[in-house]
Amino acid sequence: MSEMERTLAIIKPDAIARRIAGEILSIIEQNGFRIRAMRMLRLDRAGAEGFYAVHRGKPFFPELVEFMTEGPIIVLALEREDAIKKWREVMGATNPANAAEGTIRKRFGESIQRNCVHGSDAPETARFELGYFFRELDLV
Ligand code: CMP
Repeated sequence: MSEMERTLAIIKPDAIARRIAGEILSIIEQNGFRIRAMRMLRLDRAGAEGFYAVHRGKPFFPELVEFMTEGPIIVLALEREDAIKKWREVMGATNPANAAEGTIRKRFGESIQRNCVHGSDAPETARFELGYFFRELDLV
């Protein structure tokens, strides 16, 4: 049996603006994740640049920062067995055009940038990303 694991999920500004945050939260729960922490906030430029520091220098970086600061986001600490991999499966491929049928990005994503959700891609990334938004005490 795989281990219990935590991952960081973000419901991005496009999804909040389109009022599908509730639907995405439902999908999260229906897929067996426990929500261990959740917060709505608006990133400023430095906050978005810090979160996406690994992408600094890539051609899409300025637009990514612009997009992620355009409105509020919801950040979540999700827990289940194999959470990192499972949440990535539920989200679908980064580019909605390549995402599998039934995934969040296939159903709701508008473009490679406006793709509704984010998820950590590995255990080290999850540790960094969870720590970026939550203190140990916030995790229930
Ligand atoms: P995310 O999983 O949050 O990680 C980085 C984000 O950059 C990605 O989702 C997209 O929203 C955005 N992005 C924009 N353009 C690209 C691109 N060409 N390749 C990868 N990610 C991109």
